[in-house]
Amino acid sequence: MNISVFGLGYVGCVSAASFASDGHRVIGVDVNPQKVATVQAGHTPIVEPGLDELILRAVEQGRLTATTSTAEAVNESEVSLVCVGTPSRRNGSLDLTYLVRVAEQIGHALCTKQTYHVVVVRSTVLPGTTHEQVIPALEAASGKKYGEGFGVSVNPEFLREGTALNDFRNPPLTLVGHNHAADASGTIGLYANVQAPVVNTSIRVAEMIKYTSNTWHALKITFANEIGNVCRRLGVDSHEVMDIFSQDRKLNISPSYLKPGFAFGGSCLPKDVRALQYRAKELDLDLPVINSILDSNRLQIQHAIDEVLEIGRKRVGLLGFSFKAGTDDLRESPIVILAEALLGKGLQVRIYDRNVSLARLIGANKEYIEGQIPHLSSLLRTSVQEVIDESDVIVVGNASAEFREALIACRSDQVIIDLVRIPVDRAQVAAEYRGICW
Ligand SMILES: NC(=O)c1ccc[n+]([C@@H]2O[C@H](COP(=O)([O-])OP(=O)(O)OC[C@H]3O[C@@H](n4cnc5c(N)ncnc54)[C@H](O)[C@@H]3O)[C@@H](O)[C@H]2O)c1
Repeated sequence: MNISVFGLGYVGCVSAASFASDGHRVIGVDVNPQKVATVQAGHTPIVEPGLDELILRAVEQGRLTATTSTAEAVNESEVSLVCVGTPSRRNGSLDLTYLVRVAEQIGHALCTKQTYHVVVVRSTVLPGTTHEQVIPALEAASGKKYGEGFGVSVNPEFLREGTALNDFRNPPLTLVGHNHAADASGTIGLYANVQAPVVNTSIRVAEMIKYTSNTWHALKITFANEIGNVCRRLGVDSHEVMDIFSQDRKLNISPSYLKPGFAFGGSCLPKDVRALQYRAKELDLDLPVINSILDSNRLQIQHAIDEVLEIGRKRVGLLGFSFKAGTDDLRESPIVILAEALLGKGLQVRIYDRNVSLARLIGANKEYIEGQIPHLSSLLRTSVQEVIDESDVIVVGNASAEFREALIACRSDQVIIDLVRIPVDRAQVAAEYRGICW
């Protein structure tokens, strides 16, 4: 393919040289004439192991050239990769000056171009940026309509500086966000020689994945460091701990617990986070990330309370009372906290949970109910239908399989607040459906 790459920084240079070595014909564009001259001379303008050799070979073979002329680059390519910087402003917001300017410049060049052109956003941008900034700038400058004269896709880059060439060659996946199949095929065609699964999604999801990934990486590092600081004070080898921790691919390094939904609870997580926090405090250790976990969890419960109160209806039915499906454990169940808050606001609450039957409760759980929440036991109903019949708002608190049918049985005048994203065909749900964080 014929590709133009806008921005000869880290991402642009690595992309340009790697695509050229895969056999594509690449034109690098930068506003900085020095960078352009460096690439034209067969050298890298940035420090990255192996890049100088790759650029030299590509330039010698005539597959990589560089220019400051946008018009020349757009006219001689089918696809333009936008790799300009999106730095932070002083207040932390994203500075889109370079991105919008490059979109305007490409747009001007598209005015006179007869063939369909795909603009691929590789810069890191927040969800909505492509639709609200890039596409309008391209449309205004080109006088053409998105999807007719030109296409746009989002193809975030996941490379790490220092290992960028290897990361380019062996990415975990190739992510392409697009709204039109023609834009996707133009982008996916670039990666014919890269062995990685191609994931197609919408533009907004692709934009968000980059932020989710980078925030996750940052969280992993700070979490591991905080655990390491505790380990050091306790005379435990943090590397042995994290090596063994990482061997658990079911719960630790896995998709487990990565489903947005309601707060955690139960007899272990809150207690154990609290105990670690307390021990760190005794050791005079500050753990900002770990210390914020329970606060964040409390806010999620408050968020659910606010969602119910905002509806302004009086009768609320809770489906699921224990902290997760398939258990009768009510200790630190966030649904119990939700129920108490709603009662405190004067709402009528009805509760159903097949595992929480007072007659069957024994041991710690019975003690917990009798000691902590005896007033809630009178609100328990023995069937889902009773709760539906007596409520205006239905809150789904855990993912019991029977609640899927319950949602379908709800009336059109009811509102459902789903805290767990029950797998249900929404077309079959007559009631108004709201998710807590989706
Ligand atoms: N550096 C990384 O490791 C990395 C990894 C993944 C994603 N990203 C993202 O990729 C984007 C680029 O990052 P970078 O580190 O390569 O940036 P960079 O600052 O190294 O390079 C950006 C280049 O764009 C050029 N430029 C600015 N305006 C231009 C215009 N109108 N036309 C042509 N060129 C123009 C600049 O002169 C500069 O050379 C950012 O959004 C960044 O967040 C970076």
